Amino acid sequence: MLAGAAGSVANGFWIEPDYLSITRQDVSCKKLPAGLDGLRIGLIADLHYRPDQDAGLLEDVVARIQQEKPDIIALAGDYISADPGVISPMLACLGNMNATHGIFAVMGNHDGWAGNAAIFRQQFEKAGISFLINQHSVLSIRGESLAVAGTDFVWLGRPDPVKTMRGISKNTPILALVHEPDYFDTMCAAREVTLQLSGHTHGGQCRVPLLDVAPKTVKHGRKYVYGNFSNEDSRLFVTRGVGTSGPRLRFACPPELAILTLRASS
Ligand SMILES: [Fe+2]
Repeated sequence: MLAGAAGSVANGFWIEPDYLSITRQDVSCKKLPAGLDGLRIGLIADLHYRPDQDAGLLEDVVARIQQEKPDIIALAGDYISADPGVISPMLACLGNMNATHGIFAVMGNHDGWAGNAAIFRQQFEKAGISFLINQHSVLSIRGESLAVAGTDFVWLGRPDPVKTMRGISKNTPILALVHEPDYFDTMCAAREVTLQLSGHTHGGQCRVPLLDVAPKTVKHGRKYVYGNFSNEDSRLFVTRGVGTSGPRLRFACPPELAILTLRASS
């Protein structure tokens, strides 16, 4: 038993936090135009980047997502834990990513608590990444429109779903980026979203094997902790994210790069 416990501790602290997993899955979306069927989205969240410990993991994330050749890359916030000074070295690596139809980012609560949103926007956009704060961008893909809409962070931020989606025409599908997943209900109350992508929870960061539950959850991430959810015709995917907050510890909940393929369902 002692050997097992020691092995679990060693895994949690020294192996699993660097063990990047790739989740590839189809997401059935109601009312998705046939032209957008097969669209591939790479989702990265919660880097909580610490250059002294996470440089290898970040390089791995960028190399693996480039191999996947996604159509769109979504960055769902919490790039830092507290120090805005790490944004520059992080973007030096993230700026090497490419996606056919663009890279889009939103603020996480840690980003909002630590830094000035205007500085985030300036640095991300300099690296070729569109930064969305209560706004959207309409893409034209294979003759169809797709709105990518991102809110401000929710926890002590100023998210505004109405402003975020105002002006998007009725039949245009919406890919929503919202850092905190539990805000899904508020988004759906404002308007149907084809698919919302969120992080924030780290999937619990430590989960109980076999039971597959997360004992510790976080504000605004208690209802939707990890995986796929729906609200009528709206869909939500919550990623485990990449990094860690608090101790650099993960257990039965490895870092995740999610590659989601949109599928039109009737
Ligand atoms: Fe967060």
